[in-house]
Amino acid sequence: MALHGLSSVTIGVPDVGSTAAYYTDFGLTPHGDGWLSSTDGGNQLRLVPRERRQLVEMVIRAENTDDLARIAASLTRLGIPVDLDGDDLVAVEPVVGTRAVVRVLPPLVQDQAPRAAYNGPGRLERRGRRADGVLRAGPVRPTRLGHAVLGTTNLEASKAFFVEGLGFKVSDSISDKGVFMRWSTEHHNVLVLAAPVNFLHHTSWQVADVDEIGRGATRMLEDHPERHIWGLGRHHAGSNFFWYLKDPAGNFSEYFADMDCDIDDALWKPEVFEGKQGLYNWGPPPPPSFLHPDDLAELMIGSHAGR
Ligand SMILES: [Fe+2]
Repeated sequence: MALHGLSSVTIGVPDVGSTAAYYTDFGLTPHGDGWLSSTDGGNQLRLVPRERRQLVEMVIRAENTDDLARIAASLTRLGIPVDLDGDDLVAVEPVVGTRAVVRVLPPLVQDQAPRAAYNGPGRLERRGRRADGVLRAGPVRPTRLGHAVLGTTNLEASKAFFVEGLGFKVSDSISDKGVFMRWSTEHHNVLVLAAPVNFLHHTSWQVADVDEIGRGATRMLEDHPERHIWGLGRHHAGSNFFWYLKDPAGNFSEYFADMDCDIDDALWKPEVFEGKQGLYNWGPPPPPSFLHPDDLAELMIGSHAGR
């Protein structure tokens, strides 16, 4: 079974207009029909109106209909209803309620981006000129969607849906609080985190390198310092550089670069990280609102009210 990563996410938000404006500032291209695109991945983010912010749907790439049949059998064994129709398999994640669509789609192939030259001790890749990172003037444009992160009130059931049901592989874990899972050879495409309420923690978007993360976040914060959540830093699990920002609905969006890739299922050894390592390798300490977003209490009230 060839695993091809996420194709798109649909996020429900109370105010589609202001949220679309935010993701346009973030570097995605709006198309006026609720969809926004990345440069390499095409339409990868759809915004739809919902009273409470949430991940409504994720579309996952599969290689062929045989994959869908296998997944349908696995989900059925878990007692999860499956709707299999042609090139689409649809199942609802049983805890968070996100609709997972596994669709037969070609893999996303990215052209090789030119590598920025970096000088180091005894290693001069760039002589007599300023760094690419300080000369770049254009807007930062995410190249593709990387992963989505869900807070779940039942970590084991959410993990079972993705791993035993859909066939995701576990890459690493954060003690008994989180599971990084891949549906590709990239370190993670979905992370589920134990939480007091079901919610969308963040979506993550690839940019070319660490300079693009810095340039993108700096621009996002220029007139909106309230968008800052956490960065710049480097995660331990997945190794990626990161900077997290917050959209007007309260969802976080992450710029990432240099994620662990080309993971070989036979060689990769998943680890269980405790404490700080589960969160990051270096960077400023995460603010309390990173793991417990400010609107969690509000979301809990909303979920109890059935919204
Ligand atoms: Fe992330």
